[in-house]
Amino acid sequence: MKQGRGFRHHLAAAFTGFVDLRSVLALLPPCVLFLTFLTLSSSSSDSPLAGILRPSSSDGLPAAGITNGSRIAICLVGGSRRFELTGPSLVRHLLGEYREADVFLHSPLDGDAYKLSLLKEVAPRISAARIFSPWALPVTAAHKLVLTATGSPNGIQGLLQYFNLVEGCLRMIKKHESRRNFTYGWIIRTRLDGYWSATLGPEAFRRGVYVVPAGSRYGGLNDRLGVGDRATSEVALSRLSLLPRLDRAGLRLLNSESAFRAQLARSRVAWREVRAPFCVVSDRRYRFPPVANGVPVAAMGSPGPLSGAKCRPCQPACAGSCAAKVAKGLDPRWSWTEWRNDSLRLCDASHGWAEGWERVFDRVAGAEAAAKRRKMARLDVATCAEDFKVMREKAARWESPPAKEICRLGLLRRPANSTTKFA
Ligand SMILES: *[C@@H]1O[C@H](CO)[C@@H](O)[C@H](O)[C@H]1NC(C)=O
Ligand SMILES: *[C@@H]1O[C@H](CO)[C@@H](O)[C@H](O)[C@H]1NC(C)=O
Ligand SMILES: *[C@@H]1O[C@H](CO)[C@@H](O)[C@H](O)[C@H]1NC(C)=O
Repeated sequence: MKQGRGFRHHLAAAFTGFVDLRSVLALLPPCVLFLTFLTLSSSSSDSPLAGILRPSSSDGLPAAGITNGSRIAICLVGGSRRFELTGPSLVRHLLGEYREADVFLHSPLDGDAYKLSLLKEVAPRISAARIFSPWALPVTAAHKLVLTATGSPNGIQGLLQYFNLVEGCLRMIKKHESRRNFTYGWIIRTRLDGYWSATLGPEAFRRGVYVVPAGSRYGGLNDRLGVGDRATSEVALSRLSLLPRLDRAGLRLLNSESAFRAQLARSRVAWREVRAPFCVVSDRRYRFPPVANGVPVAAMGSPGPLSGAKCRPCQPACAGSCAAKVAKGLDPRWSWTEWRNDSLRLCDASHGWAEGWERVFDRVAGAEAAAKRRKMARLDVATCAEDFKVMREKAARWESPPAKEICRLGLLRRPANSTTKFA
């Protein structure tokens, strides 16, 4: 079995719409593709860095949930593969904690996009949503030098797609800012496949410092969540447009995490790792027990915080001194994650999700989340389409294929009791 190499996780999780790519390409004339690319690439300036090379001096911590009165944008990116499990936790612990924050959604259209109907309850807070059919991004000679395809199932193209999801969210935020003539003070960027077990602490908000989760570094910086003020976020989210700068600096063979660290370092943005109470829900299988560069998969319900480690609902196969022993064998520069104080309990992820995972999830996530999970499992096309219609009406801006298309794509071909659709 292939073991984990950084970014392929992102891709698998953040971009499940690859199957759609070819059909979309087939439909569009090449000039349209090219023009679209030009528009995108020229709208994101090559130099979003001017004036922000300010080292962190003011270590001002805004009080929890306040951030000193400045406005917060929450950027939700990636595929919605297990959103029936992660969505309610995001709504409760992140959107619920920062009630004044505006929500930006950037997600590829695929067979799971219908699950975004869960966001109906926060629709009035959605400043912009974009659910799009992905197209191939041009891979330049510089991309081929700077990035490595090693470990990425969709190669360099897959990395670029992931970067585009992230940077696309920044573009949406900037458009909103210029339309409304204001700027956000803070941007929280996170993934749709993150399961949150608690709220972020105030230590995540540090002026002049980009805050990322601890552990799961994969040779660079954990990029599964990021919190920063407006200036540091601009650098951190400019994942595509900063690649030429990394090339000019002679950097080579980077994965997502090492490219991320390099773009902050090159732009003189300081970072800080903090522990954050979320994990990335994954269907992928990994050798167990993980050693060296192997990927630990935490049990949802580990005391945590898991700081974005992979997780699934399972009966832990290894906890206490066993988890300690495994974690001590992991490379701290790679997949290592904090384990002390019993924070980490491990699943044997060498097979698909075990039968009965629903019960485990329901117990861990609580009655409200369990009810939402069951409701999603029963969702039909008509109700789904109605939910999307409501969201479209309430959101400030909404860009997606017709609701029926999104709902049919997922619900009409959904096998009964599907648990391993993308495993
Ligand atoms: C919060 O606002 C006060 C008063 O305007 C200011 O002195 C302080 O520096 C601000 N702190 C942060 C973190 O922005
Ligand atoms: C935008 O805001 C700035 C500063 O708050 C103000 O000076 C400017 O007139 C505003 N522009 C528009 C078009 O409202
Ligand atoms: C473990 O728990 C103790 C007591 O609550 C705390 O002081 C310590 O920082 C914790 N260590 C880790 C690594 O979480």
